[in-house]
Amino acid sequence: MSDMITIAVSKGRIYDEAIPLLAKLDIIPKDDPKKSRKLILETNQTNIQILVIRATDVPTYVERGAAELGIAGKDVLLEYQGNGFYEPFDLGIAKCQMMLAGLKKANKTYTRPCIATKYANITQNYFADLGQQVEIIKLYGSMELAPILGLADQIVDLVDTGETLKANGLVPLELIANISSRLIVNKAAMKMKNSIIKSFMQRLSKVIEN
Ligand code: ATP
Ligand code: PRP
Repeated sequence: MSDMITIAVSKGRIYDEAIPLLAKLDIIPKDDPKKSRKLILETNQTNIQILVIRATDVPTYVERGAAELGIAGKDVLLEYQGNGFYEPFDLGIAKCQMMLAGLKKANKTYTRPCIATKYANITQNYFADLGQQVEIIKLYGSMELAPILGLADQIVDLVDTGETLKANGLVPLELIANISSRLIVNKAAMKMKNSIIKSFMQRLSKVIEN
């Protein structure tokens, strides 16, 4: 069996915040994904490589064992319907909030609100827990547009500074979940490559504590 450890990392802001964490473990990619078209990044550690992939693909790679480890947002993990990985760590990076939001001027209650979101499962579960029926419209970005144009009554999306909501005349209504990035580990790899993964996790937990 190969000793190679593959870490699947969400591209974009999670990658930008995860790389300094990995550097503290002396894991440094040889290429910069902003400059290179390589999809597999070798690192200074001969047995560790990094995949830079779309956020929503990270759980799939890890669940199916294409990567032993992954770094993904809790939003993506809550939305993903699978259980083929462990989630041992909150890395405390890419923090934001999953919010229900609506037009500032709307100020009304809905019997069956229409919600635009990229997070259909999270939204469905949230309203099911409240015993409220909803219609969900799946979008893939710029959710803030939907209430403005009458496509939906409200949205469920991530909020950090609140600038995007404010700039589009929306206000946060309810906090659904606090979000940050997590380490995930393939279940079979945890057994088969236990010593190397355990050592990685021990070193990572020390870095997070400090
Ligand atoms: P995709 O490639 O699937 O379109 P994306 O454009 O949503 O993904 P990013 O915006 O980089 O990719 O978001 C990746 C992750 O970063 C999210 O899953 C979430 O955990 C976190 N995130 C998203 N928006 C924010 C934000 N405004 N502040 C902090 N973290 C965020
Ligand atoms: C995310 C999210 C919001 C915005 C919130 O979008 O979907 O639109 O950040 O951040 P703020 O509260 O600091 O304004 P992102 O920038 O990732 O764009 P995208 O959804 O189009 O990928």
